[in-house]
Amino acid sequence: MRSGCKAGIIAFLKGDAATWPGIMMNKPLISLKNRRILLGITGGIAAYKAAELTRRLQDQGADVRVIMTRSATEFITPLTMQALSTHPVHLDLLNPDTESVMGHIELARWADLILIAPASANFLARFASGQGDDLLTTVCLAAQCPVAVAPAMNQAMWSKPATQTNSATLVQRGVQILGPEDGIQACGETGSGRLMAIDQLVVRVSELFNTGRLQGKTVMITAGPTREAIDPVRYISNHSSGKQGYALAVAAADAGAHVILVSGPTNLTAPDRVELIQVISAQDMHAAVQAQIASADVFIGVAAVADYRPKLVQQHKIKKDQNGQRSLTLELVENPDVIAEVAMRADKPFTIGFAAETERVETYARKKLIDKKLDMIVANNVGNTEIGFNSDVNAITVYFQDRAIDLPKMSKRSLSEHLIELISQQLIEAL
Ligand SMILES: Cc1cc2nc3c(=O)[nH]c(=O)nc-3n(C[C@H](O)[C@H](O)[C@H](O)COP(=O)(O)O)c2cc1C
Repeated sequence: MRSGCKAGIIAFLKGDAATWPGIMMNKPLISLKNRRILLGITGGIAAYKAAELTRRLQDQGADVRVIMTRSATEFITPLTMQALSTHPVHLDLLNPDTESVMGHIELARWADLILIAPASANFLARFASGQGDDLLTTVCLAAQCPVAVAPAMNQAMWSKPATQTNSATLVQRGVQILGPEDGIQACGETGSGRLMAIDQLVVRVSELFNTGRLQGKTVMITAGPTREAIDPVRYISNHSSGKQGYALAVAAADAGAHVILVSGPTNLTAPDRVELIQVISAQDMHAAVQAQIASADVFIGVAAVADYRPKLVQQHKIKKDQNGQRSLTLELVENPDVIAEVAMRADKPFTIGFAAETERVETYARKKLIDKKLDMIVANNVGNTEIGFNSDVNAITVYFQDRAIDLPKMSKRSLSEHLIELISQQLIEAL
């Protein structure tokens, strides 16, 4: 889906305005579970089919939100789409209420995919010319996620050079054009211009999430916090939610990898298609990683592994007045360094670390990259409460030995797809 996608993906190479490299797509139907699809409906006779499309995407597990153009509301009511999507339909760009809750930027950020179905000839023209004269075109302009468009119109409108040029322009910018199909049209004419059949559209949309780039590879990911027991009821831990590691596991599975997810305690549901190994402490995580690391082509250490653990774990609950003292001193000992041990192996997999820092992010990240002999490190500022721990969004910088890439604020899922693509490219270059 990402092939040459400039509208879909934005990446910034530090000090160099390089464009994001292409990403191949396709292969088997995959689940749309928890995929956030922003469905744009434009003013065409096929707009009524957006109702069925919404249901079918939801059947596959997608979370669907809807934007309608003003013309679209003449063909199908926002109330219908609100009832089906179970969310208010977004109609206006300049709506103070909407802007205060979820404006066009937030909508664009929310989406994993923007799908415009049906897309009118008028919409193709406005999108291709870079206009932002209504909510839908503005969200498409603001999008950092992929954008797919399913045109539907009279065959003469579709075959007109202007429409063909607009469509070609969008393809060249990385927008996926799904259809149209040949057949009898609502106007009674026959030709190319029908909205792609809904079944087919759902298949194509799910395919867009499968890059197939890590087919045949094993990716081991650690995620979440660890808990270091103090006594039977207390432990030392941290604020890691596991969301970033789990999102990476999904993205790696979507890319066709066999994924082993070694997870500390989280509140997250086990992702589909992923071998989940649940652990509690840093020592458990270390043992689980060591047991299977020989089979891994890629190791991504996202877990916030505790550096230290209490030297002694008390057999019984420590009582407040145990020694008649008003303070308690815990002696801590160092935990095994899970990622450093992976990176030290003679048969080391491509090894990626995460640096969650609250200050001097670049300095600490680069130091960790070098000290631990990592191939790549992903740094983020967890001191910023809008991103990082527990948040659904993140903004990161990826450091290699010789360069850095900024990935601006976006959903952890989108970031994960970018990271998996970056990793795939490194593996290909290393061949
Ligand atoms: C009854 C009727 C049916 C239409 N069907 C289509 C259509 O299928 N595809 C299309 O591109 N335009 C169609 N149009 C024209 C669009 O509605 C018109 O270009 C409109 O400005 C599109 O606005 P939008 O792109 O903002 O949604 C139709 C117009 C009418 C009156």
